[in-house]
Amino acid sequence: MKIRREGVKELWKRFIFENELDDELSPIVKESWIRSKKWKVNPFQAFGPIKKIEIERYQSLIDWAMPLMEGLYSIVKGSGFLVILCNEKGQLLKSIGDPDTLLMAEQIGFVEGADWSEQSVGTNAIGTSIVMDQPIQIVAEEHYSEICQSWTCSAAPIHDSKGNIIGVLNVSGPYEKVHPHTLGMVVSAVKAIEYQMALNENAEKNIMMQRFLEATTNNMKESILITDTEGNIIKANEQLKKLLNLDPSGLEGKKIQELFTNQTIVSNGPIYLQNEELHVAVRPSRKNYHVMVDKIPIYKDKQWIGSMIMMKEIHKVRQFVNHLSGNQAKITFDDIIGQHPLFIQKIQEAKLAAKTDSNVLILGESGTGKEMFAQAIHHESDRRNKPFIAINCGGIPRDLLGSELFGYVDGAFTGAKKGGSAGKFELADGGTLFLDEIGEMSLEMQVLLLRVIQEKEVMRIGGHKVIPVDVRIIAATNKNLREEVQKGSFREDLFFRLHVMPITLPPLRERKEDIPLLVRHFIDKLSKKLNKPFPDIRPDFLQALLQYDWPGNIRELQNIIERTLNRQTKPVLSAKDLPEEVFHLFSGQKEEKSFMHKEDIKKQAILQALCLFHGNVTKAAKHLGISRSTFYRQMRKFHITY
Ligand SMILES: Nc1ncnc2c1ncn2[C@@H]1O[C@H](COP(=O)(O)OP(=O)(O)OP(=O)(O)O)[C@@H](O)[C@H]1O
Ligand SMILES: [Mg+2]
Repeated sequence: MKIRREGVKELWKRFIFENELDDELSPIVKESWIRSKKWKVNPFQAFGPIKKIEIERYQSLIDWAMPLMEGLYSIVKGSGFLVILCNEKGQLLKSIGDPDTLLMAEQIGFVEGADWSEQSVGTNAIGTSIVMDQPIQIVAEEHYSEICQSWTCSAAPIHDSKGNIIGVLNVSGPYEKVHPHTLGMVVSAVKAIEYQMALNENAEKNIMMQRFLEATTNNMKESILITDTEGNIIKANEQLKKLLNLDPSGLEGKKIQELFTNQTIVSNGPIYLQNEELHVAVRPSRKNYHVMVDKIPIYKDKQWIGSMIMMKEIHKVRQFVNHLSGNQAKITFDDIIGQHPLFIQKIQEAKLAAKTDSNVLILGESGTGKEMFAQAIHHESDRRNKPFIAINCGGIPRDLLGSELFGYVDGAFTGAKKGGSAGKFELADGGTLFLDEIGEMSLEMQVLLLRVIQEKEVMRIGGHKVIPVDVRIIAATNKNLREEVQKGSFREDLFFRLHVMPITLPPLRERKEDIPLLVRHFIDKLSKKLNKPFPDIRPDFLQALLQYDWPGNIRELQNIIERTLNRQTKPVLSAKDLPEEVFHLFSGQKEEKSFMHKEDIKKQAILQALCLFHGNVTKAAKHLGISRSTFYRQMRKFHITY
């Protein structure tokens, strides 16, 4: 209900002088008057305080508000109106109006920095709209300060995107000219300012987001591209350019179907793929790539709007995995010690094998250096920068060896990893696969292995797809494979496939001349590691080592040197510093001056080791540097029961 002006003046006077309030007054004005009195605002002051203001801080608000203020002013131009912008505290930032109105307004303090908060000047549209956080119109005598009572003001707070008040827009004019619609105009202008500022904020965020995404995606190893529902390429990263040898900017706007031939990639629809291995041909060259692909549908409000495709060349994924898992041959021929003519000949054979791409079979007792040779051959070959993958055929349960070697597809068996898994053949692609203890492989597995060697392709367990593999095989065994063939436990055809370049490593007892050299080599390596000086090696130390028979070959020698050095406190090494089994034999031989048969020495070593470790075969075998299976074999051979 609109109250006549005179009536309100009466109410105002009664409140100011007699502190009486009438119910006819609007609740907003009534409460504001009460607050104004509580804040001890002087209703008869000439004008409110003028405070210093850092106008630059509000430049962005001013820039966004000015065009709308001018728009508002053009409507009320020439009728004595003022359009005013204040900050969030009610301080005046900018005002637009007719020159004479501006002059008049200056007299009541409508100047830059003027404080129009309710606390300073009492009830007024600017200050009260801030307190109430809503659009407000204050008509003439509703103003608490008498000096403003010839004006009617309409103000609305301006909010940021988070809902905080950042300013106030106000239109003031001679009270008799004001229409209730003036407030509506102010509210619309404020909405427009808020909307534009939010749009701008979003645009800024979008630009930042875009820069961020560009920087990250261009530095990623994956090739990434985004398509809409029709397969039009919206965005592609730098990596894709490298992969396909194309300009990514030239890709945008093209259709994905123009780029790839593979149906899984180009097919439309919200398809989800993860770690999918695909062979894709790229148009126009039709060059083939073996890639790992992820395809992720993009949704907006549950509606599919496009897809993101990420791909990475398989060999790069493998390289990375191999790098992480250390699938790299570290040993070279320089690391292999030995000058015995028999041994030199073996090194020459191995170097020759490295120059070819034929399969290699390394034979020899346990601990003779078969794995070292395999690594050195790989390292010397053209495949040196590709993976070297070793698998111990005797160390993996028989039923698991297949999936380890050939991989498997999703759901091939219970417990199979989702998405399947690549086998060692695929992982070794381009490189070397070292099949250790090949003599332990089941006949069934031998058939599969033979097929892969012949066809140069694998099929994952449970799968149908043929995957070409380029792998060089180096196999090793301490068994006499020929005998195994005769016994029927090793396939003859596989034997001949592997026996292309056989290398038989001599046991250490057949190249004892190399012992001093190897001893010095191991002592040198170890004393450096233990930070000890190189010790003085006494002749009886070497003599004892030379008399020992070394059933565990070089691995055993290495273990014995290690054990001796670990417990040695003085920088001198004599025969008595050696472990019991070696020293005992040596001193015993000296006393008896008798010649002990090779086999007896072996037997004695086994017995001593069992004795030393109270029958614990694992520890005893480790102590001698031989595998548990060899240890058991020796026990059976010598009829040892413990
Ligand atoms: N000629 C050598 N020079 C230096 N170290 C050697 C030599 N031969 C073997 N070794 C060392 O002896 C240990 C056994 O070698 P490797 O593992 O190659 O033997 P292996 O024949 O594969 O044995 P196994 O049949 O028991 O697996 C390794 O620690 C290796 O460093
Ligand atoms: Mg080995």
